[in-house]
Amino acid sequence: MFSQKMLNALNRQLNRELYSAYLYLAMASYFDNLGLKGFAHWMKVQAKEELEHAMKFYEYINDRGGRVVLEDIEAPPQEWNNITEVFEKALEHEKKVTKSIHDLVELAKQENDIATQVFLNWFVSEQVEEEKSFSEILQLLKYAGEKPQVIIALDRQLVQRK
Ligand code: FEO
Repeated sequence: MFSQKMLNALNRQLNRELYSAYLYLAMASYFDNLGLKGFAHWMKVQAKEELEHAMKFYEYINDRGGRVVLEDIEAPPQEWNNITEVFEKALEHEKKVTKSIHDLVELAKQENDIATQVFLNWFVSEQVEEEKSFSEILQLLKYAGEKPQVIIALDRQLVQRK
């Protein structure tokens, strides 16, 4: 069993992962509304991944004999000015998640909680991938601009995400 402080921090992270799912689902809805099915699909897959992240925290807390406590999930924004802004905000969000994972690692070190440090290793690597996938799309949008042919090509590419 871990300390109450560690347990509270893990429960907070579970909530952040659920918020991430909520945020990306709101972004999917924005894209669906624009008729950009590929962008919407990509965000829905991302939202599902965030639910998987949340469940990893859920199972880990349980495995260690802790109690999962579900709190309110903040409402995400619903509108953005353009496609590029959606990806800017998403990347900004992922950077915050990376910081909160790193803070958890620091806390686990302070608490001498080796098992939690090992558990968090997966998330440290995952955050590198998360930031990379958002910033690759963002770079492309910034480089090519939001010209209709660019958006249509990208939409066809993003629909292939598994
Ligand atoms: Fe669960 Fe996108 O980090």
